[in-house]
Amino acid sequence: MEVRVFCPATIANLNCGFDVMGLCLENIGDEMIFRKTTTKGIQITKITGADLPYEVSKNVAGVAALAVIENRDIDFGIAIEIHKKIKAGSGIGSSSASAAGAVFGVNELLGKPFSKSELIEFAMKGEALASGSEHADNVAPCLLGGFTLVRGYHPLDVIKITSPEKIYAVVLHPHIEVKTVDARAVLEPSIPFHKAITQWGNLGGLIAGLYTQDYALISRSLQDVVVEPFRKHLIPHFEKVKNIAVQNGALGSGISGAGPSIFALCEGKKIAETVAEAMHTQYSKTRIPFDIYLSKIN
Ligand code: HSE
Repeated sequence: MEVRVFCPATIANLNCGFDVMGLCLENIGDEMIFRKTTTKGIQITKITGADLPYEVSKNVAGVAALAVIENRDIDFGIAIEIHKKIKAGSGIGSSSASAAGAVFGVNELLGKPFSKSELIEFAMKGEALASGSEHADNVAPCLLGGFTLVRGYHPLDVIKITSPEKIYAVVLHPHIEVKTVDARAVLEPSIPFHKAITQWGNLGGLIAGLYTQDYALISRSLQDVVVEPFRKHLIPHFEKVKNIAVQNGALGSGISGAGPSIFALCEGKKIAETVAEAMHTQYSKTRIPFDIYLSKIN
């Protein structure tokens, strides 16, 4: 028996929702293949597109897969092939795609004993290996699709948010690597009260805007006074790209996950294409190679 899984890229944080908000990109992702074997346990048999460890306990997908089978009496083993398309340290959920793909594929081979919510918890174990912290803002949208909110972590409480009909995301991925652990290390351990008020006001506004398809409210809410001021220095030409995106009609723009990717949300495909082109033109002026992706958010 063989299961093939598409493991989508994701944008975490969405400016005002650090560690709690995320969305799933439809057409960018890895592929993983799962096969039953007679050798018990998890094996990683093939990896393409990235230089990752085959040792299961050192591999994000391996750790996540182990979390699913732990303490379960399974009379077969599982061989995993990983075909990476999402670059590590790109800010669009490379490790989460591996972790979420692993738990999804293993669950399918087991006959789907676990709910999506349980799978998110298993996937967080894999994510923690890569980033040093168990956050779910990438793995949740990767497994559930669309926009998600992690309402709480103890216990895990994830809410899937209905996407506005016309929402598109543009992502510019500069080919430099920013490690999530490093991007977390630049953050202040505490934030002033006035910034917290601004941030949670915006997060509430974003959620309300998404549910009511109020694009102006989404636009007003796509701000980040807590994380972006510290992380923007890690991303060459960040501010120029962000400004160009907004000047060309994006609802808002910011750092995708821990960076270096820069995202913009747009109302409608036409505006998204204009924004993508403007971001492309702007970044072509730098000497840094990059990719641009455009995706509808469903
Ligand atoms: N919320 C995480 C961060 C996403 O920004 O550090 C990256 O894994």
